[in-house]
Amino acid sequence: MKAPSSTPLQPDVLRVLQSKSETKAFYNKISRVYDLLSDRSEAPVREAALRLLAAAKGETVLEIGFGSGHCLVALAKAVGPTGKVYGIDLSDRMVELARKNLARERLLARADLVCGDASSLPYPDSSLNGLFMCFTLELFDTPEIPKVLRECKRVLRPGGRIVVASMTKKEARGLVVRAFEWTHRHFPNFLDCRPIYVRRAVEEAGFKVRRTIRMQMWVPVAIVLGTKPGKGGRGPYRPDRDRDEGDEDVH
Ligand SMILES: C[S@@+](CC[C@H](N)C(=O)[O-])C[C@H]1O[C@@H](n2cnc3c(N)ncnc32)[C@H](O)[C@@H]1O
Repeated sequence: MKAPSSTPLQPDVLRVLQSKSETKAFYNKISRVYDLLSDRSEAPVREAALRLLAAAKGETVLEIGFGSGHCLVALAKAVGPTGKVYGIDLSDRMVELARKNLARERLLARADLVCGDASSLPYPDSSLNGLFMCFTLELFDTPEIPKVLRECKRVLRPGGRIVVASMTKKEARGLVVRAFEWTHRHFPNFLDCRPIYVRRAVEEAGFKVRRTIRMQMWVPVAIVLGTKPGKGGRGPYRPDRDRDEGDEDVH
């Protein structure tokens, strides 16, 4: 199967050919084994991304595509009883599982989860302090990526933080990446994600990129911290926290 051509902002990024109902069915099917399949490789990235967001007591934070809810649990602990975590996920089985995991930690009262497609977010404008997305942005088709990030910007308060962890196209030239992309191109229902230019996408959506951390899973991963322009959030730029490592997603 040949993928349609890509968009100017994400050149040479493969398209996603799965429909939303196929994606939903896929995550419903693997919900019980997702952690078994992915935890070992993905946990260090999730932890680094959570540290970068640094959610604080009393904050409101949304996670998009929370899966079994590991990060929701960590975020609910970080925001404390005066804060709130929101979550949206396409898979109703993942929502069920995340609710169970939050309940087991007695954190369900701090969470508000919905089942839905994050290309349209059911939250008011400028209502959240933080937004978190881990291994989810690369599941959206290329033209949808700016749309999802525009929605993220709309719901964040001025000064609010976004952290996106994703497989990245930057330095993605090795054999493993080529094999990965080949599998995505030929078996899109088996391998639904692919590397994207994540830092560029966050910047193009109008966020100020504060920091990019690069990690190596079996493919290169980037974790990007951005802020929505405007006053608010957690005060002025602090180089110790907000250092920009100057990485550019450009070849
Ligand atoms: C690869 S998993 C990552 C789960 C979790 N963030 C983690 O790091 O363990 C992607 C998650 O995004 C959800 N998802 C996929 N497409 C989505 C969409 N359009 N809107 C909301 N969630 C979506 C899937 O159901 C799945 O739970």
